[in-house]
Amino acid sequence: MEVCRRGSAIHRGARPANAAPAGLLVALLLGLWGAQALEMNVGKIPFLEAVNGSTVLLPCTYASCIGIQNLYFKWMYNDNGTMDMLCDSVIPEDDAFANVITYKSRVEFVGEKKNVSILLWNITFDDEGEYICFGRNPKEKHKNHSAIFTLYVVDEVRVIDNTLTKIIASIVGGVIGSFVAFMLMKNLTLFVLAKMEGRIKSVS
Ligand SMILES: *[C@@H]1O[C@H](CO)[C@@H](O)[C@H](O)[C@H]1NC(C)=O
Ligand SMILES: *[C@@H]1O[C@H](CO)[C@@H](O)[C@H](O)[C@H]1NC(C)=O
Ligand SMILES: *[C@@H]1O[C@H](CO)[C@@H](O)[C@H](O)[C@H]1NC(C)=O
Ligand SMILES: *[C@@H]1O[C@H](CO)[C@@H](O)[C@H](O)[C@H]1NC(C)=O
Ligand SMILES: *[C@@H]1O[C@H](CO)[C@@H](O)[C@H](O)[C@H]1NC(C)=O
Repeated sequence: MEVCRRGSAIHRGARPANAAPAGLLVALLLGLWGAQALEMNVGKIPFLEAVNGSTVLLPCTYASCIGIQNLYFKWMYNDNGTMDMLCDSVIPEDDAFANVITYKSRVEFVGEKKNVSILLWNITFDDEGEYICFGRNPKEKHKNHSAIFTLYVVDEVRVIDNTLTKIIASIVGGVIGSFVAFMLMKNLTLFVLAKMEGRIKSVS
């Protein structure tokens, strides 16, 4: 059995130095267990905002310190509580790949080594929601592991909204601008008229 020393060292190092020996032992055991367990990972930013009609990558990688054997994985879509199967497969061992079965025409498996990412083609607003990357390693007593990636679908209209705002702003700006210009012209005219009047008065 291969133990992931790097992982356990991190867990051990994270403990305060003055922890009681018993606590340390528990922490160490937990650390070892945590390091050995399979981990499904959808990345540091587990969500994406994409425009409808585009094609998106739903990322997921796995890691296991004890290694995998016949790892079962699947991608599911949480359709308001019902789990829609998108694809699944069994990976015999690291670096070996079984055929991935996809259950939706717009889903394409693009995984490679320890990477079980999928592409979702031509997204629509109905595709918005939670995507679950699930894994189960028989080596680990069939414990379930999963990670959730959230997709938000937006309309390009947002961009149009922006231009509309700009157009309105420029119109409003233009109106205010003309008003200011008008007031300036008016005041200037009045000033000139007053001057002229004054000159006429002083002459007479
Ligand atoms: C996005 O959705 C709108 C309305 O649902 C649709 O009219 C438009 O064609 C879609 N855009 C793309 C790029 O598919
Ligand atoms: C989702 O489920 C809830 C309760 O199960 C229901 O009230 C709601 O209408 C559902 N929404 C959609 C979009 O199906
Ligand atoms: C995505 O849409 C394009 C253009 O409409 C189409 O040619 C392509 O076959 C679609 N791809 C999938 C996987 O549905
Ligand atoms: C997983 O594979 C996809 C498609 O090849 C790639 O875009 C992505 O960067 C990979 N992720 C990692 C963490 O290697
Ligand atoms: C693990 O997931 C399977 C579905 O894939 C489910 O039937 C089973 O009850 C789950 N086991 C645990 C312990 O959550």
